[in-house]
Amino acid sequence: MKSVRVKAPCSTANLGPGFDVFGLALDAFYDEIQLIKKGDGIIIESSDPIPLEPGKNSAGLVVKEMAKKFRIKDGLCLKIKKNVPAGFGMGSSASSAAAAAVAFNALYNLNLDSNLLVQFAGMGERASAGSVHYDNVAASVLGGFVIVRTNPFSVIKVEPPKDLVLCIAIPKIEVPQKKTKVSRSVLPKEVKLSDHVKNLSNAAAITAGFIKKDVELIGHSISDIIVEPARKHLIPGFDKVKTNALKAGALGVTISGAGPSVISFASTSTDSSKICKAMEKGFASAKIKSTTIVCKPSKGAFVF
Ligand code: HSE
Repeated sequence: MKSVRVKAPCSTANLGPGFDVFGLALDAFYDEIQLIKKGDGIIIESSDPIPLEPGKNSAGLVVKEMAKKFRIKDGLCLKIKKNVPAGFGMGSSASSAAAAAVAFNALYNLNLDSNLLVQFAGMGERASAGSVHYDNVAASVLGGFVIVRTNPFSVIKVEPPKDLVLCIAIPKIEVPQKKTKVSRSVLPKEVKLSDHVKNLSNAAAITAGFIKKDVELIGHSISDIIVEPARKHLIPGFDKVKTNALKAGALGVTISGAGPSVISFASTSTDSSKICKAMEKGFASAKIKSTTIVCKPSKGAFVF
């Protein structure tokens, strides 16, 4: 095989209390990657505004690391089509990184298990976040709801309930270049034990909700008193967006990943367009325009 093409979905990380641990793959946008054996060294081609230097691109970094690890000396060309909006908390860099790891695995018939694939994909996050975290990449690679354990490293995947619907509001604001790094820099270094207990109980309830396929339990447990309060000042109108969405029937609302998009968890029996309008109005109250998208969980990266 000389070339392989892979699509990998966007994702939402944290789901409120599961900071750096929970991820959910979403069928809203997919990045596309073609990995071709040709030329010398590793080159990236793309007509999208992304870094083309392999060491500065999340997909390029993954290919570089995997080539090193498996002693592959072939010249490789990585064609990238970005569809996931970059810098808005929808796992854009992770989606390209996940597609790259899955493509490399397929091109060289490596048969890597899912934990290794996620670990390689996670190396790409260094390019944008400055640190390695696996919640978005795990969701993009495996699909569904994922729980990332780091010590020992393992990813647990749970199939989401069929009646789970997500409404995402993406504000039209300028985001800093290294947005994830910036939004991680505002987080507390230490947390109060009682706050940790509240977040942990909600995180456990979210996990139970996915296992029991109980959308209400998931939605009502999307509650985070540690990371959300520390980050919400970076999102103009956040409180209003959240209150409006809850009033319109959302079961739970939080920041999508590192933001600034806001995500509502709802059921297929709720009027999702009403939730979207309510979220847009919330942003409008802070004089911010936004676009909204209704989506469902995705099955993860695939060769096409
Ligand atoms: N868990 C990460 C964060 C996700 O919230 O910083 C960033 O995409």
